[in-house]
Amino acid sequence: MQVADEARRVASYLLSRPWLTALAVVLTIVGAVEAVAWAQISRVIVDSLLTGQYALFGRYLRYMFLMACVWATVSLASRATTWLLRTAIARQLELEILDALSAPRDWSHSHWQPSEVVSRISNDTRQFSDLLTSVLTSLLSGVLFIVFGLIYGVILHPALALTSLVIGILLPLFTESQSREVADLVNKEHSIWSKTYSKVLEIVRNLEILKALDLGDRLTRRTGLYFEELAQNSIQQTNKRVRAGTVVQAGSALSTAAVVLVGCALMAFGKLSPGTIVAAVEVLPRISGPLFGLPSLLMSANETLTLARRLFEMIDGLNSEAESDSLPKLTGLRHIVVNHLSYCYPGSDREVLHDVSLDLGLGQKIGIVGATGSGKSTLLKLLAGVLTAPSGGVLYDGLPSPVTRTSLWTEVVYVDQRPRLFSGSVLQNILLASDQVDEIRLSEAIHDSGLDQVLCRWPDGLDTQVSGSHATISLGEQQRICVARALYLRPRFLFLDEAMSAMDTATELKVQRELRRLSNEGMCVVVVSHRLVGLIDCDRIAVMKNGHLECLGSHTELLGRSPTYLRLWALETSLACLGGEYSYSAEEEYE
Ligand SMILES: Nc1ncnc2c1ncn2[C@@H]1O[C@H](COP(=O)(O)OP(=O)(O)OP(=O)(O)O)[C@@H](O)[C@H]1O
Ligand SMILES: [Mg+2]
Repeated sequence: MQVADEARRVASYLLSRPWLTALAVVLTIVGAVEAVAWAQISRVIVDSLLTGQYALFGRYLRYMFLMACVWATVSLASRATTWLLRTAIARQLELEILDALSAPRDWSHSHWQPSEVVSRISNDTRQFSDLLTSVLTSLLSGVLFIVFGLIYGVILHPALALTSLVIGILLPLFTESQSREVADLVNKEHSIWSKTYSKVLEIVRNLEILKALDLGDRLTRRTGLYFEELAQNSIQQTNKRVRAGTVVQAGSALSTAAVVLVGCALMAFGKLSPGTIVAAVEVLPRISGPLFGLPSLLMSANETLTLARRLFEMIDGLNSEAESDSLPKLTGLRHIVVNHLSYCYPGSDREVLHDVSLDLGLGQKIGIVGATGSGKSTLLKLLAGVLTAPSGGVLYDGLPSPVTRTSLWTEVVYVDQRPRLFSGSVLQNILLASDQVDEIRLSEAIHDSGLDQVLCRWPDGLDTQVSGSHATISLGEQQRICVARALYLRPRFLFLDEAMSAMDTATELKVQRELRRLSNEGMCVVVVSHRLVGLIDCDRIAVMKNGHLECLGSHTELLGRSPTYLRLWALETSLACLGGEYSYSAEEEYE
């Protein structure tokens, strides 16, 4: 995005509540007029006092009191307006982010981790709205004070206005480079922070594995270095800000001193009254003030843009990951057809599936077998919409993929090869977000998945706590919970990717029998398994080899037609007979 586009987009937030922005502008104008009026009143008061015009002095003293009331009101009102504007901008951004978040998406493939989104909502939006309002008010009041101050200064005496202007223009030349350095440090801080954040997240997610590999310490040390870099960056920023701030304050004092000196010189020649010097001191430093403040204003504007960039990157990223409303929605899915499907993973040009065609209908139990890496999981993920199939590669009731994931996932449930549990009770893991418990469905799911056999051994039963990050129960037990969760959902299409691989054979065969019963009742069950004995009752078994669908048929048909299937079956049965005649080499599968 171009800087101009970004600036335009940033400015649009200022107009999200146009009446508040208009009020802030009006109050700033009133404030500037009031400052000039105050200076003029001070001038008359001093001169009338020194020349003994006490009636005039009394009248202007009353005006001064009036101006003090105006000043108090305007300053209170403008603070309130700025606060309201700041809150409105933050709210507008939060709404945009919430809107982007509410669209259906696949979080497991999202670039944005929910925790990072939350951190950006809570930190960046507030910082952005603070900076934006302060840039607006500083810029506006700066411009107004320069214009009004110069006009008034020329009226007082052109030499005074010129003195202020020259100092105001010269001084920023000293602070400009420091402000640029601070801006660079701010940009650097954001990039270090992003790096640190993703590193920490990665470590937290993989803590158990890292500990097991003894890598925890090394990575923690590396993250520590990032934090050290961040801290040093902050120290440098503070130092430079303080130095720049001191120069600005010194400049402001210098400007006042110069105005007083030039004013006194003019007064000595009888060109000015003492009241004029008082008025000049009141107003003229306000010309040089915004000019001194220009580098720091540019720095704040740059910081605002950097923050805006981070927020826009996230909002646009979330929006682009969200599902388009124009995608077709599914209802009552009955058929899934795989149509000459070839697939390469994003970022890779290696085809892991080549020209696979298959059709799935309700009431069927289908098995998928094949060697490691032959593409079974990839095929299942494409069918279930976990991976995005190439356009038209998969047809859902004749509708070419992609279709809306939310509508697909009410019809289709996919159980991953790796059990995915969340920290909580077993019951919560089965019900997920369901508010109401259907007791009949729950007890059927627990029975069909074989979970009942382990629940009766756990003292807390369904209330047993499991952890999402590390295993407190065995792999087979985790798999039973995942299968029970899928069965509780009662989908039309159920895809199980080696979801029973860690269960004992007796349990797997029991679950396979239940799956056959469910498919007889109308569900379509697709099971990927390396244990062929559980797939004998399938209507069809797809044999995958190096990304190709080598053969499709029933168990008996495949024994006669597919050499790969025959080899796998022979191996399994020979193993079952403990040392049967058949000799097998793993390489044969990869031929
Ligand atoms: N995210 C990925 N990016 C790139 N290539 C991938 C990715 N996931 C899998 N692959 C590759 O795709 C091929 C098929 O993988 P897939 O997981 O579908 O195999 P599989 O048949 O399920 O194997 P297994 O029996 O071990 O589960 C493999 O060669 C694998 O290396
Ligand atoms: Mg797999």
